[in-house]
Amino acid sequence: MQVLIINGSPRKNGVTAAVLHRIEENLRGAGIEVLFYNLGEMKMSHCTGCNYCYRTGYCCMEDDAELLSKRIEEADGIVLGSPTYASNVSGLMKDFIDRGHFVIEQLLHKKYCITVASGENYGSQDTLKVLKNFESSEESCVIFRRKIERTAPN
Ligand SMILES: Cc1cc2nc3c(=O)[nH]c(=O)nc-3n(C[C@H](O)[C@H](O)[C@H](O)COP(=O)(O)O)c2cc1C
Repeated sequence: MQVLIINGSPRKNGVTAAVLHRIEENLRGAGIEVLFYNLGEMKMSHCTGCNYCYRTGYCCMEDDAELLSKRIEEADGIVLGSPTYASNVSGLMKDFIDRGHFVIEQLLHKKYCITVASGENYGSQDTLKVLKNFESSEESCVIFRRKIERTAPN
């Protein structure tokens, strides 16, 4: 089993990362392979709204968002973490969500998802809500490119 952890904080040693690394330790302790990515270390452009992905199932920009899609496709589960910024996810996480939006609407079920939001005083529930909308499932989530290939128009 493989789980992908995505830290949406620009601070790779921050609070969100600390929680995510604790989850990572527990998963590894249970014999689960874990891949950990800090969005702050990745090359990911803003979504340009070109709608290419709606037509083809693929993003026209070749950067780390595509790499993450592949990793998520291969994974059995995903852990998404974000700090609360102005009662929302971080800009990094929002870019990731925007870039994955169409892909994630093609979810296949039966993958696990954990969402984590850190914050100091208010708005973390709103952050969690954004993350949970993104994974958009009762109990499971996945980004699955092959599903898109089957459903996307030519
Ligand atoms: C730009 C910015 C906006 C923030 N907005 C909020 C907020 O609305 N509510 C809150 O509780 N904390 C807010 N915080 C605090 C962070 O959410 C909190 O410190 C978080 O745990 C930082 O996580 P990190 O160490 O992983 O980056 C904000 C911090 C920054 C830098």
